[in-house]
Amino acid sequence: KKIVLFASGRGSNAEAIHDAVVEGMINGEIMALVCDIPGAGCIDLAKSWDIPVIVVDRKQFDSKDAFEQFILDAIAPYEADLLCLAGFMRLLSGKFISHYEHKIINIHPALLPSFRGLHAQRQAVEAGVKIAGCTVHFVVADMDAGPIILQSAVPVYESDTEDTLAARILTKEHPTYVRAVELFCEDKLTIEGNLVKGTED
Ligand code: GRF
Repeated sequence: KKIVLFASGRGSNAEAIHDAVVEGMINGEIMALVCDIPGAGCIDLAKSWDIPVIVVDRKQFDSKDAFEQFILDAIAPYEADLLCLAGFMRLLSGKFISHYEHKIINIHPALLPSFRGLHAQRQAVEAGVKIAGCTVHFVVADMDAGPIILQSAVPVYESDTEDTLAARILTKEHPTYVRAVELFCEDKLTIEGNLVKGTED
């Protein structure tokens, strides 16, 4: 399967997927990385992998539609089977998503449907939950609302801050995202309404 990675920050999830591809755990090929933040750490990371990097600065575009169309045109030649949003901090429109129906997945640092949106770890700490975690899901137009593929849980301690919790969740994000991409690339996943089947060993 041909994979295009999307990231906005340091890119540790993108790196985990890249490394799993290199190690042969994921039956795929990384075609490119799309990044919307000039200077983000994931850009140098991707360059060290010798893959094409597409930096798209939203401020350079008159509209969200023009921004998204540029991305669609830039990645079209790769004929991607899978787009992996890995800390990509932009919401993709239904129009963009319709070009890659059921082929876009995302990782969110909370146990959806709890704590959608930004600062999910902070939301969890403030809510006083005792269990938090991460969710890998298919992307739909509604934010953080698509069919859930895999989740992993971590304990929340009384001493936790959003940073200590985020660090604990991140250790689970990497293997969870890699496992989800593995399953997708092996054609193991099917979607029935809002349910994903094929995730159990
Ligand atoms: C991760 O916590 C991810 O769940 C969230 O943003 C963070 C990205 O981290 N969407 P990285 O860029 O993959 O290291």
